[in-house]
Amino acid sequence: MSRLYIAVTGANNGVGFGACQRLLEQLSSEHQTDGNPQFDIPVESKDVPDERPRWSGLTLIMVCRNVQRAEAARGKLLSYLDQILEGRKARGALDEYGQNFRQNLVIGIEKCDFTSVESVVGCARGMRTKYPYLNHLVLNAGAASFVAIDWFKLIVPFILHPIISLTVVSYIIQAIGERTHDGFGYIWQCNVFGPYLFYRELQPLLEAFHSRSDVDCHYPSRVLWTSSLEATHFYRPEDWQLVTTDHSYESSKYQVDLLASQLEIQALRLEEQTNRPAKVRHLIIHPGVASTGIVDSFLHPILVHLMGLSFYLARFLGSPHHPRDPHTAGIAATHTLLTPLENLPNPQRHSKCLKFNEIDNEEKMRLQEKLTEVRWVQVIDPKDPPPPIKFGAQTDCFGNPRVGVTRVKQWKEYEPESRALVDRFEGLYKSLILDHPEKFRDDAGPAADVPVVQKRRSSLGG
Ligand SMILES: NC(=O)c1ccc[n+]([C@@H]2O[C@H](COP(=O)([O-])OP(=O)(O)OC[C@H]3O[C@@H](n4cnc5c(N)ncnc54)[C@H](OP(=O)(O)O)[C@@H]3O)[C@@H](O)[C@H]2O)c1
Repeated sequence: MSRLYIAVTGANNGVGFGACQRLLEQLSSEHQTDGNPQFDIPVESKDVPDERPRWSGLTLIMVCRNVQRAEAARGKLLSYLDQILEGRKARGALDEYGQNFRQNLVIGIEKCDFTSVESVVGCARGMRTKYPYLNHLVLNAGAASFVAIDWFKLIVPFILHPIISLTVVSYIIQAIGERTHDGFGYIWQCNVFGPYLFYRELQPLLEAFHSRSDVDCHYPSRVLWTSSLEATHFYRPEDWQLVTTDHSYESSKYQVDLLASQLEIQALRLEEQTNRPAKVRHLIIHPGVASTGIVDSFLHPILVHLMGLSFYLARFLGSPHHPRDPHTAGIAATHTLLTPLENLPNPQRHSKCLKFNEIDNEEKMRLQEKLTEVRWVQVIDPKDPPPPIKFGAQTDCFGNPRVGVTRVKQWKEYEPESRALVDRFEGLYKSLILDHPEKFRDDAGPAADVPVVQKRRSSLGG
């Protein structure tokens, strides 16, 4: 049996930490319920045996920008797992599997700041010298330049359609034009380009698992790209570094949708052309709406509390998109990592079988769109190519977690932009890194501390 290596970025708090908790909980048990099939997909896919790999142990790699915070989080993760194992023991279960898992568990910490090319390359190359391969990479770290609430944009739409108002944050005013020390748009580099560079630099490690002769299974590695329900058309291709937009957060998440969709399409196309399984697959996930660091950083604690309560209201009114706590929100990552790929719907292969109705009241939604500037209604012509999908954390009204699917918006219109983005990012990757072997040595260790950009800004999503 081989060892499982999973790296999670931004693992020290919020949704990344919640996903790590769930991973430990699940992988320490023989019954990994988060990996159970959740989608009604075609018969031919169901014929594929539900075979789950067995692993000799887990190395969980927490990729964080602050080592102290990461160490504190690692301590919390280990106590969390110990409590779970104690609980199983107290219930009289002979948990040999869990005890073995605990003994073989390694939680590593890697320092990486996504707003610095040097830090990202240094971290990835350090990992290449340390780990033999990487099974999965969860690109979760993210930030937003939220500064204040536009109450008018919140209250009127809230009265008209509370669920949408509690789901998208188009009423939060965002800083415009912030740049990193590298000179790139801050939110763009942190949420899109930094993670892309990290993936590209780790690609040899991700592909290595597939090609190794000393492992007994050859599953494609998975890269999970964290998007948001708010990934929308605010994005304007002429401002691809997101420096003039007043919606850099939503735009960065839409770029993530376009980029990851195109990478997955290219991986599947290569699979068809070569008749060999792809070595790396790309999946888009999102946590729904969860209370995390972002809110704390710019809202008064009373408002944070009220917002948390309002998420219950949204659930009560029928929203599936409010997991609320990061642990529940982590199911999008654990499900897409632990379930066999055959259990995940794929629009290119199963388009006709995917049923979703994203429009529950078109007229009301259209009015809401005008007020919030968020395009919510999606009308898809069945003749058009099926849009890519995202796997999101959802719950029923009692808070029981599950995974749901939403579409990448305006795919037909933006598909050419998704191809242009991959080309542009590749061009930058080449000119910044590949053309400078003297600057980025292959045996480089983790990069030195990178000063935080001009001022402290809130990290997260919402
Ligand atoms: N919460 C939501 O409702 C929601 C909704 C949709 C999407 N999301 C997405 O979910 C992901 C996780 O967000 P969250 O809600 O868990 O927010 P969070 O609690 O603020 O966590 C964000 C994580 O990213 C890390 N990070 C931020 N900037 C970084 C940088 N420059 N380099 C390295 N790491 C950095 C943070 O590190 P520090 O601890 O050092 O700051 C933290 O670990 C994000 O991609 C976010 O966009 C969240």
